[in-house]
Amino acid sequence: MRTILVTGAAGYVGGALTRRLLDQPETSVIGVDFCAMDHGAEGVREIIGRPGFTFVREDIRNTDAIEPLLERADAVVHLAAIVGDPACRRDPDETVSINIDATGRLIDASKRHGIEHFVFVSTCSNYGVSDTSTLVTEDGDLNPVSLYAESKVAVEKRLLENGDLPATVCRFATVYGVAPRMRFDLTVNQFTIEALRDGVLEIYGEQFWRPYVHVEDAARGVQLVLAKPDVAVGRVYNVGDSEENYTKGMMYELLKERLPDLEAKWVSIDEDPRSYKVSFQRIADELGYETTWDVPRGMDQIIEYARLGAFPEPKAPRFRN
Ligand SMILES: NC(=O)c1ccc[n+]([C@@H]2O[C@H](COP(=O)([O-])OP(=O)(O)OC[C@H]3O[C@@H](n4cnc5c(N)ncnc54)[C@H](O)[C@@H]3O)[C@@H](O)[C@H]2O)c1
Repeated sequence: MRTILVTGAAGYVGGALTRRLLDQPETSVIGVDFCAMDHGAEGVREIIGRPGFTFVREDIRNTDAIEPLLERADAVVHLAAIVGDPACRRDPDETVSINIDATGRLIDASKRHGIEHFVFVSTCSNYGVSDTSTLVTEDGDLNPVSLYAESKVAVEKRLLENGDLPATVCRFATVYGVAPRMRFDLTVNQFTIEALRDGVLEIYGEQFWRPYVHVEDAARGVQLVLAKPDVAVGRVYNVGDSEENYTKGMMYELLKERLPDLEAKWVSIDEDPRSYKVSFQRIADELGYETTWDVPRGMDQIIEYARLGAFPEPKAPRFRN
């Protein structure tokens, strides 16, 4: 039996990943989350009590409470963080204390407890503004343009430069798709629900490129990394698919195909200058990773769920960070 400690288990990615890990043979999961945000324990609600699953409501800043859990774990997937630029901007001190300081203590404690594999979930936002005539690889320059990305880059450096904890960095593309804890503050999810409900999209920065990955595929990427430590330890992987880079303008066109009455209000403000097209060749070549979703099908999934009444109030605070 291999025991994996997942921090941030009650979140958007955490809920999907924890379920997938529990479906694996010979795997148990200790999920940790402080459940202090509007979504509470949403990501783990239906799996509390499932064989092999232990849920611990705890703040990762409380090292004394986390250490005994590391004693029982073989591997760690570290998701817990203040996630996204707006949330980090709102509370910079808390962001630093969780995303950098507490994460550093978790890394140190993981070393002390002989964790065999530490998977740190980072972001393609680290690339910031890059030349979009080529696809940026894991070796490309990092240009974090927000506190959120800066906090991720700081942890990546600490993990990889130290080298004495067997670790992998997974830089996720922007995630979309339906999960137990839903987020409607992520571009594909937000555009799709607004297109459906409001019939009009306010779009700024329509020319900027970003990569996208379905939440199930993001979780599958982490599973694969955990399954192949001999290859993955010491490596950085972009998690996504090179064909899945889109501009917001392209997303509008895709939604218009599905919802022909859709209108767009194009807003020309330069508020969010992140533009990057990303290569996901390394994870494909080294781990044999392939995504199973694409953005158009992800839009169809959200539309279908919404039409079934699954999201009666998508603007509620629990759906955004
Ligand atoms: N969603 C995306 O598009 C995306 C893209 C790239 C990377 N990531 C990374 O994936 C990870 C998960 O993101 P998500 O979208 O699931 O966000 P999320 O906000 O839904 O999940 C994060 C979870 O961490 C928990 N948490 C935060 N601080 C904590 C603390 N101090 N102690 C215990 N729990 C704490 C929150 O309660 C939340 O449930 C994050 O590290 C994020 O940076 C996400």
